[in-house]
Amino acid sequence: MEALIDVQHVWKLYGKFVANEDISLTLYKGEIVSLLGPNGAGKTTLVKQLYGELLPNKGKITVLGNNPTNRKIMKSIGIIPQEVQPYEDLTVWDNIYYLGKIKGVKTKQIYERGEDLLRKLELLEKRNTLAMKLSGGMKRKLLLATSLINDPKLVILDEPTTGLDARARREVWNILLGLKKEGKSILLTTHYLDEAEKLSDRIYFINRKIVIEGLTSEIKEKFSDWYELIDYDSGKTIRIKGEDELKKVISNLNGKFEVRLPSLEEIYLEVFKDVS
Ligand SMILES: Nc1ncnc2c1ncn2[C@@H]1O[C@H](COP(=O)(O)OP(=O)(O)OP(=O)(O)O)[C@@H](O)[C@H]1O
Ligand SMILES: [Mg+2]
Repeated sequence: MEALIDVQHVWKLYGKFVANEDISLTLYKGEIVSLLGPNGAGKTTLVKQLYGELLPNKGKITVLGNNPTNRKIMKSIGIIPQEVQPYEDLTVWDNIYYLGKIKGVKTKQIYERGEDLLRKLELLEKRNTLAMKLSGGMKRKLLLATSLINDPKLVILDEPTTGLDARARREVWNILLGLKKEGKSILLTTHYLDEAEKLSDRIYFINRKIVIEGLTSEIKEKFSDWYELIDYDSGKTIRIKGEDELKKVISNLNGKFEVRLPSLEEIYLEVFKDVS
């Protein structure tokens, strides 16, 4: 199967500092893939190379069969960089309209798609509001709408739901899952582990280099002998490896307790426990 994103042995340095070390990663058609890792892990650095803002020092990146710096592919991609803002002195609608025009989208499609996206993101009533007058979360939602106006087959989102309230995050999830249903492919970074678990087919844990990768279900399976024990007496939560260890700990407890299988969040904490 042809990969829409193919990263092969990529190294990215800032001066002598290695931000990405020998990273290989793929994204196939119809997949949602998440990059997870602590602050400073090199996720944004990698993502910037996927849309040609940074060039790798070593290794090769192919996006939609082209070099990421090829402007031609921009029309088929939707991107939200981590720190981008909408055009503040344009209205919500004009942000969408002009971005659509820049990406060569037909006017009729801009109207149809733009209105549909604003409705789904509950932004229709803000249509004529200047972007500078939106709340932080609304700006993030507007960026998502503008990034999807060209009906991209590949979407690259760096923390799309940071700062969104619980309901808005779910609106975004529904949109992303809807795109997946249409056969679109999505690469995202997130710090919300429940989000990654809910959306992703595959996950890359990254901390400068790739630490673990695999199907979300596989990763959870790999850690299936990890338990989370909540001791109600002491109010402490402990992570325990293996059934024997679990039995030992439980036999020393007198009061009430609860045992849970690990969520992606527990796995994440375990994988990155030595990262300061
Ligand atoms: N322009 C730059 N010049 C020098 N160092 C940089 C630059 N951009 C990022 N770095 C460093 O590279 C490392 C990786 O940063 P990056 O932004 O890729 O991390 P991240 O995984 O996206 O983190 P976060 O989750 O906080 O967004 C960090 O140590 C950061 O300080
Ligand atoms: Mg980042």
